[in-house]
Amino acid sequence: MSLKIVLLGYMGSGKSVIARKLSEKLDVKCLDLDEIVELNENLSIESVFKNKGELYFRKLENKFFTELMNADEDFILSLGGGTPCYFDNHLLLKKEGVVAIYLKASIETLSTRLILDKEARPLISNLSTIEIKEFIAKHLFERSFYYHQAPNVIVVDSKSISQIVEEISSILA
Ligand code: S3P
Repeated sequence: MSLKIVLLGYMGSGKSVIARKLSEKLDVKCLDLDEIVELNENLSIESVFKNKGELYFRKLENKFFTELMNADEDFILSLGGGTPCYFDNHLLLKKEGVVAIYLKASIETLSTRLILDKEARPLISNLSTIEIKEFIAKHLFERSFYYHQAPNVIVVDSKSISQIVEEISSILA
């Protein structure tokens, strides 16, 4: 049976960076759901949100996620921050042959990172510094139920990339 490692978590939790490092270590291909949507639409995520709307994005995200989870392929997949929270996507985290890991970061960690890097993120790009922190706190609370559907949780605050990769390797061992 194929092995699918799925990384989920809020924007800024480090999903894509960790997926790339893990992919080098395990020599398993790495996929990024946002990138798959961007390539398919030939548009950036900001442009998909702006020109076609969030619902259109969520439908595409669900379509590609479902297709990937039904494919007979090994990969490490980093999801978009909202992926587990729409349609039945969270159920796919519990499928046989899937190791889903929630990279859990605190509001403090996320706001520090996202305040510096808000431009490419349509959900927060027009919020002020104070608004971003409030937005994250509320949003994380709403999403927490879905993120905790992942059978594995790693707290990432103040850990290095290599430490997190090691923790994931021990989950896989
Ligand atoms: C989103 C997170 C983004 C991207 C889109 C919506 C969200 O992915 O899918 O902007 O709803 O949290 P990243 O978590 O990779 O930034």
